[in-house]
Amino acid sequence: MSLEGKTVLVTGASRGLGRATAEAFLLSGAHVLALGRELTAMNETRISLTKIGSNFEMVIMDVRDESTVTTYITALSDLDVLVNNAGIARSRPFVETPTQELRDILEVNVVGAFVVMRESARKMLETGGGHIINIASDAAIRGIAGMAPYAASKHALLGLNRSVSQELRQRGIRLTTFCPGPITTDILGVGTANSKAMSPKELAKTIVHLAEVPPEIEIQELLAQPMP
Ligand SMILES: NC(=O)c1ccc[n+]([C@@H]2O[C@H](COP(=O)([O-])OP(=O)(O)OC[C@H]3O[C@@H](n4cnc5c(N)ncnc54)[C@H](OP(=O)(O)O)[C@@H]3O)[C@@H](O)[C@H]2O)c1
Repeated sequence: MSLEGKTVLVTGASRGLGRATAEAFLLSGAHVLALGRELTAMNETRISLTKIGSNFEMVIMDVRDESTVTTYITALSDLDVLVNNAGIARSRPFVETPTQELRDILEVNVVGAFVVMRESARKMLETGGGHIINIASDAAIRGIAGMAPYAASKHALLGLNRSVSQELRQRGIRLTTFCPGPITTDILGVGTANSKAMSPKELAKTIVHLAEVPPEIEIQELLAQPMP
């Protein structure tokens, strides 16, 4: 399916996989809505997107701000693809993990993703269908020592995707959970990127390929791992 002229919303576009995904969709000919919460980092995304083209909009928004998210998505005239990418991660031994850390992670990775997904689904139902791609992790299907709240949040996102897919696939909305292993980003803090991990640029191309699959096919889950 060609993405030329399709409207694609990418959350967490200020850096990492989200920025690379916004760039890859812009290259594919889509109209990109790049959403992020921090002005300075979003300016860097603007600079990198401008090198590719001009068919994009920058949106400053925190996915935890339900009313702003709802107002923004409700006002869109079109939405063909959502890449629900914004996420946070923390690493520490389970017995030293404060309850607030679990709450903070769930608030972004589950509640924020839920609101963006629900509002996008409402818009897609109004405008004739679409494709929701949730960026989970291999932590959605296995445990990771030292990252229990993060793995719990990604298991929850997978469960959301599986359930919502059963409701919406008959109504023209496809859902995909993308479950990559480690990526060379700074999600655990500046300088934490693992050089043996996968490149955000290559994974972003994979996300674009998922959106290009013909509309009669739904890829429900995709696990991507780095080769040894
Ligand atoms: N890195 C990995 O090894 C890995 C592996 C598997 C899956 N993933 C998943 O891939 C996705 C992208 O991660 P990444 O590695 O690219 O991490 P990253 O470089 O830290 O990027 C995360 C993005 O999410 C945004 N974000 C965080 N909280 C937000 C909020 N409340 N509202 C709006 N945006 C928010 C960040 O914005 P700010 O700049 O404002 O913080 C940033 O743009 C996440 O869902 C992550 O769980 C990552």
